[in-house]
Amino acid sequence: MRVAFVGKGGSGKTTLSSLFARHAARQGPVVAIDADINQHLGLALGAAETPPPLGGMLIDIKDYLRGDNPLIRDAASMVKTTPPGRGSRLVRLDDPFFPSCRVAGVSLMVTGPFGADDLGVACYHSKVGAVELYLNHLVDGPGEYVVVDMTAGADSFASGLFTRFDLTYLVAEPTRQGVSVYRQYRDYAADFDVRIAVVGNKVQSPDDEAFLRDEVGDDLIACFAHSPAVRAMEQGRPFGLADLEPANLRSLDTLLDRLDRQRKDWEKFGRQAAEFHRRNARAWANRATGQDLAAQIDPDFVYGPATVTTG
Ligand SMILES: Nc1ncnc2c1ncn2[C@@H]1O[C@H](COP(=O)(O)OP(=O)(O)OP(=O)(O)O)[C@@H](O)[C@H]1O
Ligand SMILES: [Mg+2]
Repeated sequence: MRVAFVGKGGSGKTTLSSLFARHAARQGPVVAIDADINQHLGLALGAAETPPPLGGMLIDIKDYLRGDNPLIRDAASMVKTTPPGRGSRLVRLDDPFFPSCRVAGVSLMVTGPFGADDLGVACYHSKVGAVELYLNHLVDGPGEYVVVDMTAGADSFASGLFTRFDLTYLVAEPTRQGVSVYRQYRDYAADFDVRIAVVGNKVQSPDDEAFLRDEVGDDLIACFAHSPAVRAMEQGRPFGLADLEPANLRSLDTLLDRLDRQRKDWEKFGRQAAEFHRRNARAWANRATGQDLAAQIDPDFVYGPATVTTG
C-alpha cells in the first residue's frame, strides 16, 4: 500500500512521514521515499548516510523498467508517465535495483537534492519522475508499505504522481493557512478520484481540534500534538518509537489502520496511468521525443499482482 504525506511547508510532512514509516515497519516491510525539494527524511529517520539518489539514475531506471516491452523503443523514448505494458519489468518493494539504505527498520530511497538550477524547471519534475516511474511499475500488496514525503503545497499535484497512491495524508496545522492547502488539494483530489484524509499536527488543545473539525469535517482522521520526544530528537537525543507520547502513538495506529483498510484499486490505477500518459504526451513529450507516445500504451496490459515476473 502506498501513502503520500502532503501539506503546507513546515506543517510536519517529514516528521509524520518518518514516524509513520517507523510505525508501519513494525507491521511489514516499508520503503520510505524522500521526494521533497529539501531532503530531510533521512535525517528524521536518523540516517547517518543517504543512498545514491534516484534522480541521478533516470536513464538506467528507464532501461531497467522497460525490460523488453516492444512498445518502448529505447530509454530515451520513455518519459516519467510511460506506463508498463507486456514485457515491462514490474518490481516488488525490495527490488535491489533501486538503491536504498536501511534505517529505523525501513528502506530509505531519495530523489536527491535539488540544486538552485533545478527549481521551477523540468529537472525538479524529472527527479520526482524517478519516483513516478518506480510507483508505476511497482506491484505492492497488503501489509507492505511505501511512504512518500512529498514537496510542499500545490507542487505535488503538478504531475501525475499524486494519483499513484492508495491514500494521501494531508498534514494540516490548526490555522487558516494550514487548511487552505487542504481546500486546494481536496478539489484536485475530487477531480481525479484521489482519496485524501487530513491529519492534524501541532494540535495543542480541544479548541485546535474543534477548529480543524469545523474546517475539514470527517476528512479529519487523527491529530498529533507537539511532541517533546520529537523535539528532543531534533536536539540530538537518540529516538525510538517507544519514546513517543502515547496519544501520538495512538494517532499513528489510526493512520496505519486507515491505510490497511483502504481497498486497492488496480483498475483505476491503470486507467489513470494511461490517462496521465496521454496528457503528458500531448502537452510536451510527443514534441520532445518526436514520437506519438500514446502508442506506448498497451491496451491489453492488466495491472495487479498476477503481472509480476521475476528475473
Ligand atoms: N508533532 C510535532 N512535535 C514536535 N515538533 C514537530 C512536530 N511536527 C513537526 N515538528 C517540527 O516542526 C518543524 C517542521 O516539521 P517538518 O520538517 O516535518 O515539516 P515539513 O512539512 O516536512 O516541512 P517542509 O515543507 O519544509 O518540508 C520541524 O522542526 C519538526 O521537527
Ligand atoms: Mg519536509
